[in-house]
Amino acid sequence: MQTVSAIPVNSGVVESAAGVQREFFIGPKRIYPNVYLAPMSGVTDICFRQLVSRLARGRTGLLVSEFVSVEGLTRDNPKSMKQMAFAEEERPFSVQIFGGEPGRMGWGAKIVEETGADFVEINCGCPAPKVVGKGGGSGLLKDLPNLAAIVRSVKAAVSIPVTVKVRIGWSDELITLFETQKIIEGEGASAMVIHGRTRAQGYKGLANWDLIGEAKARATIPVVGNGDVLRVEHVVDRLKKYGVDGVAVGRGAMHNPWIFAQIADVYEGKEPSQPTREDYLQLFEEYHHLLRGEMDIELRALGKLKQMAARAMKGLPSSGLARLSLLRSQSVSEFFDHLRAYFEQIPSMERDMEMLEDLNGKEDTEVVFGNAYKN
Ligand SMILES: Cc1cc2nc3c(=O)[nH]c(=O)nc-3n(C[C@H](O)[C@H](O)[C@H](O)COP(=O)(O)O)c2cc1C
Repeated sequence: MQTVSAIPVNSGVVESAAGVQREFFIGPKRIYPNVYLAPMSGVTDICFRQLVSRLARGRTGLLVSEFVSVEGLTRDNPKSMKQMAFAEEERPFSVQIFGGEPGRMGWGAKIVEETGADFVEINCGCPAPKVVGKGGGSGLLKDLPNLAAIVRSVKAAVSIPVTVKVRIGWSDELITLFETQKIIEGEGASAMVIHGRTRAQGYKGLANWDLIGEAKARATIPVVGNGDVLRVEHVVDRLKKYGVDGVAVGRGAMHNPWIFAQIADVYEGKEPSQPTREDYLQLFEEYHHLLRGEMDIELRALGKLKQMAARAMKGLPSSGLARLSLLRSQSVSEFFDHLRAYFEQIPSMERDMEMLEDLNGKEDTEVVFGNAYKN
């Protein structure tokens, strides 16, 4: 089989990365490379995390759980307990929790620490009404005294480092980034992750990296920037231009699950490795293997494979029809038949990156995912 580049990378990226910051510390723990997988509910479960970690041969910097409800955690809810589980190979590992009550957030954080996670993260970004309605997620950006009380309570409950993930504000009229930053730093958090959108934006428009850069310039703790990063060049650009300590990659990791491997290669002075047809087939085979270890229902594993196909194959030559037949597959074996047939017949692996510009994707050809986290 031919091995042609599927995700074009401008040559010169190794040179352009010379001198950029490549690591940072959360408390005593080193995060290298300083590019890591952002939490995504319905996506970044133990299988997805292990998959990207294996593709990068462990060079993922940090892996974070999906957001976990402290209501569930403190009531022994099996779903919440399962969401917290991680494999040793995932370390350093962080569990992200959400809720609106300081006491329960502290209690939930304690449970996280007892499971052996390296860090606990407070979610101040989720836009979903059922989370915001109870004062959690991005609701905290409108109630700064409660945000302060939550960070304080979580800090007091645990000895592992605490991080906080925020949006830049509630809306354009209510940009709270610098106030939240003061509180987060004042209450002793060890790092802050900034998704450069407001709650009102949801996932639309572009992340405001200028504000992220300004927060970094004022910061007394490490700042991780987040939003619209899909390619190695984007990572290098954000690190250079905005001076952030790290970059968290969300949807881009579904479109380009090799991004962590690629940046690690660049940091090691190598041209980033490019996915071939074999790599794509192995991606799905490995994912299926991981999924079958976690879930005994084949249809659930099939759903996850489809979710991956909808994003990871976008922009490959004539992949529209192929994705449709993959998404319509009734069984895993039918899915793999379509997949192999597609990779055998396409003439090249040239990927059209313009098709990936809108990381949200289109509802009609995408598998629905992460609904718990949306507006
Ligand atoms: C399906 C989905 C689920 C998400 N779930 C979470 C979550 O559980 N916790 C969180 O802090 N952010 C969550 N996010 C937000 C991402 O972590 C990230 O901040 C956002 O997608 C912007 O980064 P990106 O442009 O790299 O995707 C979610 C995003 C998506 C698309």
